[in-house]
Amino acid sequence: MKIAVFVSGGGTNLQAIIDKIASGEIRNVEISEVIASNDSAFAIERAKKAGIPSKVISKKLLGDEAYDEATLSELNGLGVDLVVLAGFLSMLGPKTVKAYANRIINIHPALIPAFCGKGMYGIRPHEAVLAKGVKISGATVHFVNEHYDEGPIILQKAVDVLPDDTPETLQKRIMKECEQVILPEAINLIAEGKIEVVNNLVRVRK
Ligand code: GAR
Repeated sequence: MKIAVFVSGGGTNLQAIIDKIASGEIRNVEISEVIASNDSAFAIERAKKAGIPSKVISKKLLGDEAYDEATLSELNGLGVDLVVLAGFLSMLGPKTVKAYANRIINIHPALIPAFCGKGMYGIRPHEAVLAKGVKISGATVHFVNEHYDEGPIILQKAVDVLPDDTPETLQKRIMKECEQVILPEAINLIAEGKIEVVNNLVRVRK
């Protein structure tokens, strides 16, 4: 299965995918290209180091419509089977989302439907979790539709929120113990043909 990975920042999720392909924990998957939303994303360095082609497609520079066209034609040109948003802090355009319906997945750093939606990205969900005083948080992998964080949920994993957590310590724990576990797992399940979407809900075949 060929995938494209979209990134915006540090790329720890991208690194987890690269490492798990190398170790054989992710099977029959090849990263065709890493596509960054900005040229200062450290994830680009990680792609280069792993010998994976990378490209910047900037919504800021192109504007919404041209961005959508550019993304769609890039994906079509690559011939990818799956698009993985791994720490991608922007939104794909409507044509791309429609053309790749149920073929785009995203990792969100909270337990959807809590602490998600527009503006809830990066460190912000963790700040909101601590401000609310909830006792568990985690991460969610879901299919992407035209609304922020609303597509069918594929996998979730939770951790305890600890009394002395800061947004940063919580973020770090969730990245390591949740995101970097369930995102590779979801890619594997999709590569194995074990995921189906029925009536907007995901069924995982064992
Ligand atoms: C991750 O925590 C990811 O879940 C989050 O941004 C961080 C990027 O880390 N994504 C979102 O908030 C998307 N709404 P990374 O670049 O090191 O993978």
